[in-house]
Amino acid sequence: MPATRPPGQTGYESGVARASPPKITDLAGRRPLRYDAQVDSIRIVGGKRLEGTVPVSGAKNAALPLLCASLLSDGESTFRNVPDLRDIGTTALLLQHLGRTVDVATPVVSVRAGAAVVTEAPYELVRRMRASVLVLGPLVARYGRARVSLPGGCAIGDRPIDQHLKGLTAMGAEISLDHGYVDARVPGGKLRGADIHFDMVTVTGTENLMCAAALAKGRTTLTNAACEPEVEELGRVLNKMGASVEGAGTDTIVIEGRSELHPVDHAIIPDRIEAGTFMVAAAATGGDVLVDGVTLEHLKPVAQKLRQAGIGVEREGRGVRVIAKRPFIPTDVTTAPHPGFPTDMQAQFMVLMCLAEGRSVITEMIFENRFMHVSELNRMGAHIEVDGRSAAVHGAARLQGASVMATDLRASASLVIAGLVAEGETRVLRVYHIDRGYERIERKLAAIGADITRIKGEDPP
Ligand code: EPU
Repeated sequence: MPATRPPGQTGYESGVARASPPKITDLAGRRPLRYDAQVDSIRIVGGKRLEGTVPVSGAKNAALPLLCASLLSDGESTFRNVPDLRDIGTTALLLQHLGRTVDVATPVVSVRAGAAVVTEAPYELVRRMRASVLVLGPLVARYGRARVSLPGGCAIGDRPIDQHLKGLTAMGAEISLDHGYVDARVPGGKLRGADIHFDMVTVTGTENLMCAAALAKGRTTLTNAACEPEVEELGRVLNKMGASVEGAGTDTIVIEGRSELHPVDHAIIPDRIEAGTFMVAAAATGGDVLVDGVTLEHLKPVAQKLRQAGIGVEREGRGVRVIAKRPFIPTDVTTAPHPGFPTDMQAQFMVLMCLAEGRSVITEMIFENRFMHVSELNRMGAHIEVDGRSAAVHGAARLQGASVMATDLRASASLVIAGLVAEGETRVLRVYHIDRGYERIERKLAAIGADITRIKGEDPP
């Protein structure tokens, strides 16, 4: 992929040119959402203590289902506090492909329904972002049919969507799989409410079925539902759209279907994982940082583990102050669905444990392959041994700067934190993973004292 674009072409255009291209006219001329960042790298000179105040952006994993939920109504929905991320750009493209007019001027994104309706989400977009599957529930509920490319596996595991499909089938959809696509049709056009028990806790599965149930005929009860704050947020927004959703944020959600929903204007909750990442970064550098604009309630398990590791975490104003001084106490962590320790914070916490005085065990229970950061951390001088779902971390390591890369967003974030504490220079390659989920991470970290810069253009050889 070239590092520069021909004049007049947006990142969106270059990002989708190979597939049957979505209509992109509304986005043309707007500032591109970082498809141009694919070959950037981040350079960090370690050893700087982080100090100051860092702001938190809106939550990626809340914004994605909300943007997709806008498909449930006519009219124009407006979302505020939307982070400027690659995944938001991908979602905008997808919604445009589905016939919406999307105006992306982050932190404000508006989605307007038009006359043209497309119900197929193509592989070209779904492969960029698994969360594209979040259009399945809204499309089936609204139009009685959808054809959505199967997302397939990804770097962190197999990640099937059987629970999404089981739920939609229970609600009356007829589902077939052909040529890599899920084809869902509802005889009669209208889903009906059902009692659905998830075999395992799934965040986007819960979100898809909540959207589907919001326009179904009758009552749907979801049990063993995901309790994540982002699921709760979706319930809140569906209710603002005129739905009847009770219990979002608990493991039992009851939804009374409505015949129609209306558009919404909503400001998205802060990103608890971005906040948690800054908290760990501050701690690892022995810093004193106010992570501003967070809901500490959403970060309880992370705050609890940081405190156990000997780090000060206190609520302050609208944020949380982290004050840290070595030595850190080895602290075991096991990931679990909310309110357990989030899998999306596992890699970052592992870096902190590399610095702790002794041995800790980190166990990953959500995804089977979420230890890709381990070999890169070991290249930087960590001593981590993986055995199945657990990693034994032997501290205290003296990390050394190196060129590193990862194939997943949170793993990449952990390498940035490792770079902040390592001796000498670290180059984190494949920055496009970080750009999927962190808004201008290098600028935010530089503003609190990190020696960090984005190197535009080719990855170094
Ligand atoms: N699973 C199934 N069948 C299904 C659905 C899930 O077996 O039908 C399994 C998955 O393979 C996995 C587990 O259940 O082992 C949990 O997966 P889940 O469906 O909850 O994950 P997700 O909804 O695809 C969301 C976040 C992820 C986050 C996980 C877990 C979004 C857009 N993504 O993914 O975020 O790690 O929940 O909390 O909300 C990230 O932001 O870096 C990220 C990967």
